[in-house]
Amino acid sequence: MRPLDNHAATIQSALRDARTRLLPASDSAALDAQTLLGAALGVERAYLLAHPDQPLTAEQSAQFNTWVERCAAGEPLSYVLGRRAFYDRELIVTPDVLIPRPETELLLEAALAFAGSRALVAVDVGTGSGALAVTLAALCPALTVYATDISPAALDVARQNAALHGAAVTFLQGDLLSPLLERGIHADLIMANLPYIPSGDLPALAVTRWEPRLALDGGADGLDLVRRLLRQAADGWRAEGLMLLEIGYDQGVAGAALCREMFPGADVQVLRDYSGHDRILRVERK
Ligand SMILES: C[S@@+](CC[C@H](N)C(=O)[O-])C[C@H]1O[C@@H](n2cnc3c(N)ncnc32)[C@H](O)[C@@H]1O
Repeated sequence: MRPLDNHAATIQSALRDARTRLLPASDSAALDAQTLLGAALGVERAYLLAHPDQPLTAEQSAQFNTWVERCAAGEPLSYVLGRRAFYDRELIVTPDVLIPRPETELLLEAALAFAGSRALVAVDVGTGSGALAVTLAALCPALTVYATDISPAALDVARQNAALHGAAVTFLQGDLLSPLLERGIHADLIMANLPYIPSGDLPALAVTRWEPRLALDGGADGLDLVRRLLRQAADGWRAEGLMLLEIGYDQGVAGAALCREMFPGADVQVLRDYSGHDRILRVERK
């Protein structure tokens, strides 16, 4: 791959060159180039647009060039920069955690609406980067927030994010709700974005090249973990509670049926994402 012409690079020429190199790998090449250059220079994107003729130092060019090459090779920008925007904050991400997705912000919004300023117990099952638990705890300080993950490496990242945002979250390693069940803790609010991709679909997906399989593989029909969580919730979920489960775009009908079977008296809704796809199972017991 042709290196950037470091000596001649200005902000404008570096952006133009990077955009060309990123185009085959990204459908947001211009934005990615700006994000990477902004990070290399330690400035906002608006600064780049206002100073097109500013020359890059050798160090800035070298850093930018390395990042552009990694992204051009397909590595997600969030892993290259080690951070990702989620809702109202920025989170640390590493290849040990799923990169939080915008769809998951819908789940957070439903959780925020339920929690309000009440002193409830909430749990984020399969917390990954801690996106849901950390943001909820930071925005609703009256809550007692737990977060579980089977992956110790993911929990390390989530703990860093809790510290970064001053969020009071108790992190517990283990299978789904088990760490809470073992301690006799019952949650009012259960949130979970568990792996939901059917195992058979994974080999064809580019996402598996970079993101942890543990965060993606949902078993034969993608709903294995949801099924197990619902069974555990029969013990770990308080009577007048809310459960929010992220699902795949084609799992609304099957997922809702599982919820109704497990909790016949509950109000079960399937919430849609910004693209109009089924995305969140909202299960409320009153
Ligand atoms: C799809 S990722 C979601 C991460 C994060 N909640 C988010 O929304 O960005 C699923 C997470 O569930 C965790 N996980 C997988 N199997 C689990 C299990 N049996 N018990 C607890 N966590 C599990 C994975 O390690 C991964 O961090």
